[in-house]
Amino acid sequence: MFDIHSHILPAVDDGAKDIKESLELLKMMKADGITHVMATPHFYPQDTDLDEFLSTVTAAFENLKKLTENTDLPKIYLGCELLYFDSLGQSTSLEKLCLNESDFLLLELTEHCINDKLFDNILSLRDEIGITPIIAHIERYCRGKNYKKLLKFVNEEKIPVHINAASFFVPLYKRPLKKLLNSDVTVLLGTDTHSCDLRPPCMTEALNFIEKKYGTQCKNRIVRHTKHLGQKITDKEII
Ligand SMILES: [Fe+2]
Repeated sequence: MFDIHSHILPAVDDGAKDIKESLELLKMMKADGITHVMATPHFYPQDTDLDEFLSTVTAAFENLKKLTENTDLPKIYLGCELLYFDSLGQSTSLEKLCLNESDFLLLELTEHCINDKLFDNILSLRDEIGITPIIAHIERYCRGKNYKKLLKFVNEEKIPVHINAASFFVPLYKRPLKKLLNSDVTVLLGTDTHSCDLRPPCMTEALNFIEKKYGTQCKNRIVRHTKHLGQKITDKEII
């Protein structure tokens, strides 16, 4: 399986605190059936210098990659989780933040940024710059007053969205997830793993839950979308 969202890089954000925890998380991922994983450290464009961010995460990534090469741990790839900002649609440096240098970008929103400006920025990013955003853990914005508009938008514009596997076990997200899974939105599953305690990988558990509650067809659709995107991003066959 492919995991599109994780904070496994050591000491770069609020994820793994050191290399020991990074390796522990990768072992847990392997046990969960994950074979390929995107390292997606938080990038907050208002607070952090882009070059500084890239140099820090690249060094952490190369170090972890070296330690995992020639092991049976999941293969790791570098990307980031970019927090939305108002001039996103006009930015010229987004390529450096894409997932494994692909045309896909993991975009984090807030409940308060969902408005027509966001929709214009996403369309400009995709249609003018050529980068398709993947909305990170869309269920987390369910209390935003324009959440319904966001769902309508991603559905109509075929913008892929990601769901945290662990959210299936959070009562608050029960209704939003039901709505999403019963819609035609392109849904991908990822872990957003931060540490051995905070949101540890549970893809298999979530997929079993989805199959039981929403049926095999629904589970297979999510697996297919996640695998398909994983292959596009990594250029590798995902089992
Ligand atoms: Fe995240």
